[in-house]
Amino acid sequence: MTALKVGDTFPEDVKFSYVPYTPDKGEVTACGMPITYDASKEFKNKKVVLVSVPGAFTPTCQNQHITGFIGKIADLKKAGVDQVVVIAYNDAFVMSAWGKANAVQDDFIIFASDDETKFSTALGWTMGPRTARYAIVVDHGKVTYAEKEPQRTLDVSSVESVLAKL
Ligand code: BEZ
Repeated sequence: MTALKVGDTFPEDVKFSYVPYTPDKGEVTACGMPITYDASKEFKNKKVVLVSVPGAFTPTCQNQHITGFIGKIADLKKAGVDQVVVIAYNDAFVMSAWGKANAVQDDFIIFASDDETKFSTALGWTMGPRTARYAIVVDHGKVTYAEKEPQRTLDVSSVESVLAKL
């Protein structure tokens, strides 16, 4: 696998892990159990925005990038998006805590781990040991947008840039 581009079919065997939100484990410190998110399978019948960030609870990711997506849920739904999948190199427990810290309580936005940075590494979209900052839109299995930030910027992967291409 190399970097994805518009028109590509989303690859097979892409799996992330995440902890589904449940109210009984709603506290940030409550530990749920991770399950596999089979992205290749899920993306075949959905319009999905996959957003990758260098790390949970890091300044740009928290204060601008992910809050941008959370603030535009209504616009994303209006544009036909079925799900937003946020990934980072952190494990599923940390990603789950990050989602809960942001009061995300349903699976329109899920916070998942790109375990061992496998997917981002396969794309060549990493930042040192971390996942790079990028956004990919997959519409029923086909890539319709795929952009990685060339620098430590927030531009092509922002919710505004993604919405403009939906
Ligand atoms: C950020 O600003 O989001 C960031 C800072 C350091 C490492 C990774 C991400």
